[in-house]
Amino acid sequence: MLYLKKLNAEDMEKEWQFVRDMPEDENGLTNSFHGISRDDFEHRAFPAMMKFMEGKNLPEGYVPETFLFLWKDDEIIGQFRIRHYLCESLRTGAGHIGYFIAKPFRGKGYGTEGLRLTLEEAHRIVPEEEIYLRVNLDNPASLHVMLNNGGRIVGQDESHYFVRIPNQGRAGNTD
Ligand SMILES: CC(C)(COP(=O)(O)OP(=O)(O)OC[C@H]1O[C@@H](n2cnc3c(N)ncnc32)[C@H](O)[C@@H]1OP(=O)(O)O)[C@@H](O)C(=O)NCCC(=O)NCCS
Repeated sequence: MLYLKKLNAEDMEKEWQFVRDMPEDENGLTNSFHGISRDDFEHRAFPAMMKFMEGKNLPEGYVPETFLFLWKDDEIIGQFRIRHYLCESLRTGAGHIGYFIAKPFRGKGYGTEGLRLTLEEAHRIVPEEEIYLRVNLDNPASLHVMLNNGGRIVGQDESHYFVRIPNQGRAGNTD
């Protein structure tokens, strides 16, 4: 069974192992906790991530962010993040959603299904009529994940495509 679960204290052991093993940066998906110790995760990373989810004491210019893990039965296989609303830097940059699937699980449709589930969650959080996404030009797998979920390319710069997906349930987007 495939399902999303928010960051939570009960699953800390598996969340720590997953975050520790995620690379520092892969295709622009960054992880400042790569290689982190168990103790550091519990006392530094976990509280910081919880504060982001609750929107408390955020650094200047940051918006609240929900951290979701994609579980396959009792194993974490991916991480999905929802930034709750756009600020100028997100509007012209990384957008609302970022995601990562662990290497052994790639190419099996989990990225596509994980984004589908994340969009359902985003519809409950994000006020904008469209979900904004950005992907590197040389990341066709991620572009496919977006297009598989109704994404359309609305622009491009020298290194990225900009993609948007209707935010179902918002402003008459009910189909
Ligand atoms: C991007 C990522 C999430 C994809 O996850 P995944 O589980 O492999 O995705 P899926 O299996 O659902 O789909 C992959 C799609 O990419 C396509 N694909 C994979 N490699 C490809 C390639 N080299 N060229 C073209 N298409 C490719 C697959 O055919 C599939 O598309 P389809 O369903 O239309 O056939 C995963 O590779 C990842 O975590 N990468 C590192 C972090 C990252 O890039 N995050 C996204 C930042 S925008």
